[in-house]
Amino acid sequence: MPKTIIVSNRLPVKISEENGKLSSKPSEGGLATGLGSIYKQGDNIWVGWPGMALTKGTHKKEVTRDLRKQNMKPVFLTAAEIEDFYEGFSNETLWPNFHYFNQFAVYDEELWKAYQKVNRKFAKELDDVIEPGDTLWVHDYQLLLLPQMIREHNPRSTIGFFLHIPFPSYESFRLLPWRRELLEGMLGSDFLGFHTYDDMRHFLSSVSRLAGLGNENGKITVDNRLVMADALPMGIDYDKYAESAASPDTLAREVRYRTSIGDVKLILSIDRLDYSKGIPQRLRAFETFLDMYPDFREKVSIFMVVVPSRDTVPKYRQLKEEIDLLVGHINGKYARLNWTPVHYFYRSFPLNALSAFYRMSQVALVTPMRDGMNLVCKEYIASKLDKKGVLILSEMAGSSKELSDAILINPNNINQLIEAMHTALTMPEDEQVKHMDIMQRSLKRYNIHHWVSLFMERLEYVKKSQEALRTKLLDEGLTNQIIGSYKKSKERLIFLDYDGTLTGFNLDPDESKPDEELKSILKKLTKDKKNNIVIISGRSRDTLEAWLSEFNLEIVAEHGAWIRRHGEKFKTVTKIANNWKSEILKVMEGYVNLTPGSFVEHKDYSLVWHYRKVETGLGEIRTRELISHMKYITTNRNLHVMEGDKVLEVKSSEINKGKGASVILDKSKADFIMACGDDSTDEDTFKAMPQNSYTIKVGSAASAAKYSVTSFYDIRDLLRKFTER
Ligand code: UDP
Ligand code: G6P
Repeated sequence: MPKTIIVSNRLPVKISEENGKLSSKPSEGGLATGLGSIYKQGDNIWVGWPGMALTKGTHKKEVTRDLRKQNMKPVFLTAAEIEDFYEGFSNETLWPNFHYFNQFAVYDEELWKAYQKVNRKFAKELDDVIEPGDTLWVHDYQLLLLPQMIREHNPRSTIGFFLHIPFPSYESFRLLPWRRELLEGMLGSDFLGFHTYDDMRHFLSSVSRLAGLGNENGKITVDNRLVMADALPMGIDYDKYAESAASPDTLAREVRYRTSIGDVKLILSIDRLDYSKGIPQRLRAFETFLDMYPDFREKVSIFMVVVPSRDTVPKYRQLKEEIDLLVGHINGKYARLNWTPVHYFYRSFPLNALSAFYRMSQVALVTPMRDGMNLVCKEYIASKLDKKGVLILSEMAGSSKELSDAILINPNNINQLIEAMHTALTMPEDEQVKHMDIMQRSLKRYNIHHWVSLFMERLEYVKKSQEALRTKLLDEGLTNQIIGSYKKSKERLIFLDYDGTLTGFNLDPDESKPDEELKSILKKLTKDKKNNIVIISGRSRDTLEAWLSEFNLEIVAEHGAWIRRHGEKFKTVTKIANNWKSEILKVMEGYVNLTPGSFVEHKDYSLVWHYRKVETGLGEIRTRELISHMKYITTNRNLHVMEGDKVLEVKSSEINKGKGASVILDKSKADFIMACGDDSTDEDTFKAMPQNSYTIKVGSAASAAKYSVTSFYDIRDLLRKFTER
């Protein structure tokens, strides 16, 4: 039976060794705790690193055997790999860069080599477990190259990828010397999930700027393969946390902890040791809070859990020292015999202990400087069975997009943080319940199971779309069939769009002039008396006339506004109103003033704003603005706003290529009809074609055409074969 293979750097359990004996315990961190509840179903398997360097062969065997029983497969890393791949490139290069701590980032070619090597090692281990039909789900920044590496060996495999940390803005990502390779690695996936829309947007912008690939609602075409990106915020196993909060063990712990702490209000703070979490900032804010509000002294304490993490990395070690000093400083300054301002624990706790902490805290203070999602705040909410408690949450955490009923703060604004503590500690209970209830409902609904099924649905959708496109792809058999009916026919009518169908996209449109190869193809085709070749294009009639007058063909120009039949001059099809132009032109000219490099092209029945020479990104933004402006002024005006390759065209709705094609079709007796095109304006041509005709789309976007090819070279090949004996 096909299975799902989860792949992440860290397995949900970690092995440790004491006096030659191995033991294991659950891993911390959002990825491991989040997916921990779902991987055990069926034959599914989780592949990853067991958390320490094992050198003895007997130990490796023992771990492999034990993990197999729990549906896991270890990837063993050597001490050098842990240093260079895990601590090094993953946590000293990618982690700071993706969290906007670029001042901490290390750029070192040796670390990059180790990163490549370990990603390759994972790919090799996977080769042993992948079977046809399996789904691979790769997780997080430690394995960005893996999707592409898996695809090299398994080109048809189904690969999903989820990034658990922020994807940075292009301005940060571009600092990485290996940015292109990293993106290419990710693009080996079929579907890529991010926690927030901002992360997805940043990823797509880097794809556009670095790989030159645009997207349509998150869909990207990579080497003729459809790839999709989407925002899917990760949820928690809500019931697990709610049940744990109600368990007798948790209740007993709460009573015990309360007895030793006494009757003070608690502000809870739980994080891995990480500079992205804003722990010192939180402590400083608490100190100032006690300065500003002396009434709260002896009445409120911070309960701070810092889970040891990556403490061999220098920046993490320094952070630990800073926290130790700050806690010592605050406690030294304010502590009384009966009151400790900061209860500080540098270790990890099991679930029941965490549940007791969540239950007994009036306030949760979750104030990261940056965080992909942050699950601690969600777990706090799920554990509040009586709905009493207040969450203070940083806007820089992915979870803030969902939890707008929390008190949202900017972690750099210390005054706001202090005021938020005061508001939280004095909030009336009915108000607490109201906000908590709204957040609980949302988290119950968008729980971890919902997230997993949504991810799998999206991945399946991409696979099905790829399949549908593949079945349409013009293979050798279909090509021969078309050539066969072409040769048999007595009269042929062939509609050919120009840009993108007969030539590639050129930054300078003059370079799109027919080259020698195209000329030779058109010459041979148009010499055959049985053929009526029609060029059907959005270009102006003057351009088309200038480029194509040497051939015996018909022309439909400006999307059908002008038609030139054999031996005749250009004629308009119907009388088309043109009195709308001056107003639209005024607006477009305004955008030209605003946007260096853009210009307006005047066609007889349309106006076109061109932005191919505008700075990448700016042109797209201006176009979005212009479109909304145009939508507003073209309402009820019988005008159509069309987006093309680096252009925006406004034309009368009465004109389209389908209408132009129909004029020629009406009078034709052809027994072989074919239409080829590449962009959305060609869809009207395809739709106008009779049932038995051949319609061919260049590219992989959805289309009304029966068949598709991958590039204009394929169309040239087909046309060439028509004329070969
Ligand atoms: N956690 C834990 N033991 C502890 C403290 C925290 O297992 O002593 C868990 C916590 O329950 C949460 C995870 O560690 O599920 C932290 O995830 P989060 O997304 O908040 O942050 P990350 O560590 O992934 O950056
Ligand atoms: C975050 C990352 C995970 C990582 C976890 C713990 O949640 O997104 O990929 O596993 O932190 O960090 P560690 O370095 O201990 O694996």
